[in-house]
Amino acid sequence: MVRDVHCIIGASGQLGTELALGLKRAGEQLVLMDIKQPVYPELLDLPFEMIDVCERGGLADRLGAHRVTHVYHLAAALSARGEQDPQWAWNLNMKGLLNVLDIAHAMPGIRQVFWPSSIAVFGPGSGPIAAQSGHRLPATVYGISKNVGEHWCAWYHQNRNVDVRSVRYPGLVGSLAPPGGGTTDYAVEVFDHIGEGLPYRCFLEAGEVLPMMHMGDAVEAALGLMAAPRSALRCAEAYNIQAMSFSPEELFLEIRRHAPDFAFECIPDFRQDIAAGWPDGLEDSMARADWGWAPKVDLPALVASMMEARLSRLPLNA
Ligand SMILES: NC(=O)c1ccc[n+]([C@@H]2O[C@H](COP(=O)([O-])OP(=O)(O)OC[C@H]3O[C@@H](n4cnc5c(N)ncnc54)[C@H](O)[C@@H]3O)[C@@H](O)[C@H]2O)c1
Repeated sequence: MVRDVHCIIGASGQLGTELALGLKRAGEQLVLMDIKQPVYPELLDLPFEMIDVCERGGLADRLGAHRVTHVYHLAAALSARGEQDPQWAWNLNMKGLLNVLDIAHAMPGIRQVFWPSSIAVFGPGSGPIAAQSGHRLPATVYGISKNVGEHWCAWYHQNRNVDVRSVRYPGLVGSLAPPGGGTTDYAVEVFDHIGEGLPYRCFLEAGEVLPMMHMGDAVEAALGLMAAPRSALRCAEAYNIQAMSFSPEELFLEIRRHAPDFAFECIPDFRQDIAAGWPDGLEDSMARADWGWAPKVDLPALVASMMEARLSRLPLNA
């Protein structure tokens, strides 16, 4: 039997690092691709290709050479950086996805594609708890690209028979790699400021509630959705998945249970406007019913895991 070969595009990023580790520890054959070298020590012995996902020829060549069967396409411009450079964000997010979907159609050896969407597909008008088929009028370049990307995924599935699967991730919190320019980055960065002596300065309002998820659950979501039988999946676009919702203040008060001297101040910048357009939570019953989505980590467990990780590693941006 031909062995599955998993390829992560955008493997050196926040999610890619943790997904790569998850697949490696599960004993899967793995190829990493990015425009940045991986830095996490446990990933350095894996095959790595310096590939720009926007360069179709080179991407197709290396996917073919490694006989890749499963692609996880994670390379993207995130919400805050996307607002600052809309042309770059649109080009990367759209061209990269269309290259991957087109190559997956042209190469029968590629059996499945995972591409993450985001809560950013929702916007003002989606309501505090966004329904699976809720109103989607995104207010950011990033959100527009994810919304259109979902439609492209559905089109390639229906018209080109590409088995592409997607979830709408909330803000992700993990300890192995720094965040890449999103609106929820504060919830990762704050852990590097504990014990500094100065108050941590948060760029969102203290009470801004957003849906959030521990990276362990985010990796489980990708692997769980990819493992599901296609026939069980009713959603042609991206599944809502919910783990927990919290505000900066709720996160910081939980941190204070571990570090009583921890101080913070909230001085909102342009990212508050982005966050204000996103829902507080997602209604995810379809994901739970179709492929057994069941998050494990709540806010106290998330903070405990991040505090423990802090003690055993260098600062994320070192
Ligand atoms: N992190 C979150 O909170 C979050 C939330 C919702 C959805 N997502 C989605 O998950 C995916 C991964 O996000 P992340 O947080 O790991 O992002 P990230 O910015 O940390 O990582 C992206 C990686 O893509 C690489 N990359 C950039 N341009 C590239 C190119 N042209 N070719 C190849 N590689 C390139 C970068 O070097 C980086 O290593 C993205 O699609 C993102 O939209 C993330």
